[in-house]
Amino acid sequence: MKFQFTATVVFLCAITATPVLSNPIEDGSHLKPRQDEGETSNDLENGPCLSAFFIFARGSTEPGNMGEIVGPQVCSDLQTTLGASVIGCQGVGSPYNATLADNFLPQNTSPTDIGAATTLFDLAQSKCPNSKIVAGGYSQGTAVMDGSIQALPAPIQDNIYGVVLFGFTRNLQDDGRIPNFPTNKTLVFCATGDLVCDGTLEITAAHLSYGTDASAAAAFLVKALDL
Ligand SMILES: *[C@@H]1O[C@H](CO)[C@@H](O)[C@H](O)[C@H]1NC(C)=O
Ligand SMILES: *[C@@H]1O[C@H](CO)[C@@H](O)[C@H](O)[C@H]1NC(C)=O
Repeated sequence: MKFQFTATVVFLCAITATPVLSNPIEDGSHLKPRQDEGETSNDLENGPCLSAFFIFARGSTEPGNMGEIVGPQVCSDLQTTLGASVIGCQGVGSPYNATLADNFLPQNTSPTDIGAATTLFDLAQSKCPNSKIVAGGYSQGTAVMDGSIQALPAPIQDNIYGVVLFGFTRNLQDDGRIPNFPTNKTLVFCATGDLVCDGTLEITAAHLSYGTDASAAAAFLVKALDL
């Protein structure tokens, strides 16, 4: 199980590390849109209060704080639908460093990782109490959101209008839901053949397929926000 997970990470790193490792001179002549780069969004931390914010936790080893598999796509769909002056995006960054080893801990991530998400939900409440919140996670990021949201105080939970989880690593353990959080505010995407949804940490091609669900996830969140 561990071996299979590691093998896939090598694969993921091979994709993401290529631009960084290339010779800069050679890079210039081969410059093309780098859709595999991973993105960083800090609208809640750095921007003004908007009507809504999307807080997202990326998967293990994903670059930036939004990753690349599905987080940036959901953000972009939300902003296309609602407007970038209406909804901002915020990735869960350090001290959530999305390390592989943390998947093997009891909560499928660490208390520190979970704390990084909780810090952002707390920030949303203190800085922008009138902003509605939606959230999401991919892979280890689903465990981060699960662990954080189930333990939030009721007023902060009540202000989270919808959560989307892609490749939910605690799907089996937590019965397809975030414990202590309304199931009708939660949408879990588990692709056919994604074995992390069956209580393993075995990575298959299906686990990398969630970009295709971004627009359905964004539509669910837009409806839940009801702006
Ligand atoms: C995450 O990375 C940052 C920056 O490198 C570091 O300061 C922090 O200690 C790391 N967090 C953990 C939990 O290791
Ligand atoms: C979700 O379920 C709660 C009860 O748990 C209910 O009060 C609420 O109206 C439901 N929301 C939607 C959107 O169905």
